[in-house]
Amino acid sequence: MPIFYGKASLMDYLKSKKTVDSTIGFVPTMGALHQGHIALMRKSLLENENTVVSIFVNPTQFNNPEDLAKYPRTLDEDVKKLDDLDPKIILYAPSVNDIYEGNVSSQHFDFDGLENQMEGKFRPGHFDGVGTIVKRLFEIVAPTKAYFGEKDFQQLQIVRRMVIKDNLPVTIVGCPIHREKNELAMSSRNERLSDLERDEAAIIYKTLTTAKEKFVKQSSKKITQWVKKFIEKNPRFKLEYFTIADETTLVPCTRKNKNKKYRAFIAVIVNNIRLIDTVSLN
Ligand code: PAJ
Repeated sequence: MPIFYGKASLMDYLKSKKTVDSTIGFVPTMGALHQGHIALMRKSLLENENTVVSIFVNPTQFNNPEDLAKYPRTLDEDVKKLDDLDPKIILYAPSVNDIYEGNVSSQHFDFDGLENQMEGKFRPGHFDGVGTIVKRLFEIVAPTKAYFGEKDFQQLQIVRRMVIKDNLPVTIVGCPIHREKNELAMSSRNERLSDLERDEAAIIYKTLTTAKEKFVKQSSKKITQWVKKFIEKNPRFKLEYFTIADETTLVPCTRKNKNKKYRAFIAVIVNNIRLIDTVSLN
């Protein structure tokens, strides 16, 4: 499998692969690969002649130093998983210096307010870090299509907005959430949970599906009050936020509008580990 640790050699290689109508599919990740990531790669492999995967734990999108330090780094295992999936996958696993060239800082972005909701409120600077790295990776890889999971729905909408605002020549493809057997959304952070915590974390999706049933008749406010009680019945779990929001603007729903699409978003902290999930409500 072709592996590149520096952008110059990757760009040279991609140039050599490019023919008039060949396409490059791109799946950016932070590694510790699981089936959620693999599903994005399968889709890219189906839809493109070339698939580039990046593995880079991007320091500028972490507002919490402990979260960055403890983020799982499993490059050898990841390489094996990619090679098993398809040895034609092109892996880019850069160093911090290859990306940031001595200046580890974010550009400031205006995503028309999408960045101020939910994750943006609780993780200051997070989306500036995401915008910075995704834009830089797009410049290096120059993909035809890039694949992002709905697991990070706010990130997906922000990347879509960035592409429109900056007129970037790439199509963004959103992919459904992959779940564990107990319906917990797959995440690299799940590796830090104990077996008990992982089992108990099934309550997160259960909360979302119950909220969906309640949404037919109840107000967002009432559902939010119920969610807090339901999650925090377990003293190991702390609700960071639960929000029902317009899927496009991400503005919280105060009054239901029949013509709008809504989603429920949740962030829960278990033993200092943040878990997020989302479902479509209508
Ligand atoms: P990471 O958390 O590694 O996720 C990489 C991609 O996989 C993201 O698009 C994410 O939404 C998707 N993904 C993660 N878990 C998923 C699941 N259970 N089902 C479906 N898709 C899933 O998101 C990032 O990395 C970073 O912010 C990144 C975009 C790479 C920028 O640093």
